Amino acid sequence: MPPVNEQDPPQGELLLRLRGISKTFGAVTALSDIELDVHAGEVVALVGDNGAGKSTLVKILAGVHQPTTGTIEFGGRQVTVDNPRKALELGIATVFQDLALCENLDVVANLFLGHELSPLRLDEVQMEVRAWKLLQELAARIPSVREPVASLSGGQRQTVAIARSLLLDPKVIMLDEPTAALGVAQTAEVLNLIERVRARGHGVILISHNMEDVRAVADRIVVLRLGRNAGVFGGEASHEELVTAITGARENAVSRRRDRGIEATGGEQP
Ligand SMILES: Nc1ncnc2c1ncn2[C@@H]1O[C@H](COP(=O)(O)OP(=O)(O)OP(=O)(O)O)[C@@H](O)[C@H]1O
Ligand SMILES: [Mg+2]
Repeated sequence: MPPVNEQDPPQGELLLRLRGISKTFGAVTALSDIELDVHAGEVVALVGDNGAGKSTLVKILAGVHQPTTGTIEFGGRQVTVDNPRKALELGIATVFQDLALCENLDVVANLFLGHELSPLRLDEVQMEVRAWKLLQELAARIPSVREPVASLSGGQRQTVAIARSLLLDPKVIMLDEPTAALGVAQTAEVLNLIERVRARGHGVILISHNMEDVRAVADRIVVLRLGRNAGVFGGEASHEELVTAITGARENAVSRRRDRGIEATGGEQP
């Protein structure tokens, strides 16, 4: 069996604690009895096959869906996340896969989109200064904050979307497949950015299908299978261990390669 719960104890305070979270859509059970903890300054990767329930869990935390059963504790007290505004007020920000950026607007306008009203009511100059400061802090490679988003690369767009989600200084930030559409260099840039977000003390929930990305950046890896918890691993988990937990099968192409003495892709075989 792959070792479960072998991770080092995380450093920061416990921000988010989910227990017994279930979600049904009519006859479909998307999640059953899910547990998830997120601490300050850690990256928790959420992995699992198509339909495992990752997006449903993210939507519950983002206030899009309500859990059918279970409890969510945030900052030590039980909360309900009735709607997306409530999630933001609590300090849970989400970067959805489609990013929801406006192509024709520049970086500053995109960063402040929807935040033009208080508490972030700022004039153009203030907004530009604040945009630069935030992007500089994130060491983001954006040529000009007055470029329209349409002229940015995929990695730069992801950076803008992540920076935008940080404007309200959330405790937890959820990233849904942030590297899915990116090339090698841009992926590395976004992974670096995730590390800087962690260094600022945010708890990060990273959803990804890419095991290499996950192993590169995650402090803990939470596997979902068919809507249930299927193991928690440290960032050093091998590719094979993760594939086994994700598919639920001991016998798979990765283990067969290992048994034939061929090193699994990115695996840490002796
Ligand atoms: N609004 C909905 N109505 C009915 N069923 C839903 C709804 N949303 C999700 N489901 C079902 O819940 C299950 C989990 O779906 P979910 O989208 O959370 O999976 P996922 O892990 O995000 O998959 P993927 O990797 O493909 O994005 C699936 O069986 C899906 O069909
Ligand atoms: Mg999904």
